[in-house]
Amino acid sequence: MIGILLAAGRGTRMKSDRPKVLFTVNDEPMAFPAYQALLELCNPVGVVIGYGGSDVKASLLERASELMNLKSLGFQEKTIFFTQQELKGTGDAVRTAMQGFLRGGHKIDPAEEVIILNGDLPLIRKQTLDYFIAEARKQSLDSACMTFTTMNPSGLGRILRDMRSVFEGIREEKDASPSEKKIREVNSGVYYFKAAALLNSLEKISDNNQQKEFYLTDTLGSASGFKSEAIRCPFKWDLSGVNNAYELAIARSLSQARLQKNLAENLGVSFADPLSSFVSARAQFEGPCVVGPNVQILGRSKIGKEVEIVGSSLIENTEIQDKVLVDFSCVLRSAVLKQGSKVGPFAHLRPESVVGEEAKVGNFVELKKTTLGKGAKVNHLAYLGDADVGEETNIGCGTITCNYDGVMKHQTHIGKNAFIGSDTQLIAPITVGDNAYVASGTTLTEDVPAGALALSRAELTVKADYANRLKARLKSKGSK
Ligand code: UD1
Ligand code: MG
Repeated sequence: MIGILLAAGRGTRMKSDRPKVLFTVNDEPMAFPAYQALLELCNPVGVVIGYGGSDVKASLLERASELMNLKSLGFQEKTIFFTQQELKGTGDAVRTAMQGFLRGGHKIDPAEEVIILNGDLPLIRKQTLDYFIAEARKQSLDSACMTFTTMNPSGLGRILRDMRSVFEGIREEKDASPSEKKIREVNSGVYYFKAAALLNSLEKISDNNQQKEFYLTDTLGSASGFKSEAIRCPFKWDLSGVNNAYELAIARSLSQARLQKNLAENLGVSFADPLSSFVSARAQFEGPCVVGPNVQILGRSKIGKEVEIVGSSLIENTEIQDKVLVDFSCVLRSAVLKQGSKVGPFAHLRPESVVGEEAKVGNFVELKKTTLGKGAKVNHLAYLGDADVGEETNIGCGTITCNYDGVMKHQTHIGKNAFIGSDTQLIAPITVGDNAYVASGTTLTEDVPAGALALSRAELTVKADYANRLKARLKSKGSK
């Protein structure tokens, strides 16, 4: 079976310079689910590109390369990209693909089946195509489109049926008469053809219509001379097409709801407030966990079992191992949180930070390129950048690794079981040995050997009964 994905259009109604099919849904290009479904069903798969073609190609291949099942299906060998030189409509796009296959030496059997999908169907799934193909085969059809009924058919091709409900053809909105515009059964952009019927019908279509385009939709219906049907789809969500920013928003919330439902049912991931949370299709969960309100899990994040994410956090490309607690309001980017660790509330983990097993990062702590050993603690108000901290070491409140001298970044090494007192500044590059003790308020400019005490203290002056005199003097100055 041949697959064809139509992804050459600009998507003018999105009112953006970005190719429509690259707007993301669940963090994937909008055209990806259709591409994936075709890869799962067909060989070869032709992708018609045009506007922004090289970006569209790169994004589809990049996402496919992240999925094991598509890799094992050999997605790269299966896929052929064809460039539609001028965007002269969906019929012209399909013609570009069919001619491209033939030119590339692909022998097309007249009885070979062809599945064609619009690139703006981000909720389409293989199982829906399976149903459609089975129906087309059962009825021995030469061609078919999938339809659904909607209260708001505006912008879509209307399904024309005669008095006996026989499928006559598809009328595009711009060419429809007022009475045709009232029809609520519409074309979804999912098509089935026998190759012979497709090739024959493509030769006959013209661009004699309001948009001066070659419509693929003109190849269907009784007028085509082939056995053609319009098949109603029982899974309506799958056909939510995207033509403008509002429809994109609807498609995003529907596909996010579906993704969260699958995670909940298959793995026991429980979302406290599904509407306010977002999970990327690229993220992986391993088992049951709790996700509070307002949580965004982006990119290739990996979430282990029995993790609790309390709420209002942004987690991007971050690995969270089993039994981790992410307390309220954290920003975690390209970090690793090892088993049993706790972060937050209000923690900021920047790229290449690793929180060791059972380690703890508390409120208003920022880590950058910093590794905390097992059981280490940074509980309050600290900045650690370009540092590594040994097991069981305690970093006091207000500690700062001064990693930047205005030109270069420098490393801080802190050993195991060390104690860094509150309000310490470590002027990097610097090393504090195992079991060392740095007293509160120290500005550390030299390495501290293992087991040593380091303290820097300015001399302290305490003047008895001086406070009231000082205040009186200041007041008398102020009254002058
Ligand atoms: C199309 C259908 C319409 C259907 C609707 C469903 C036609 C003529 N009309 O209209 O009946 O109800 O989809 O959403 O097919 N494309 C190309 N090359 C082109 C033009 C388009 O590759 O020259 C691609 C686009 O990238 C897109 C798909 O084809 O992925 C559909 O194009 P679009 O402009 O969205 O068609 P609609 O006007 O929505
Ligand atoms: Mg469309």
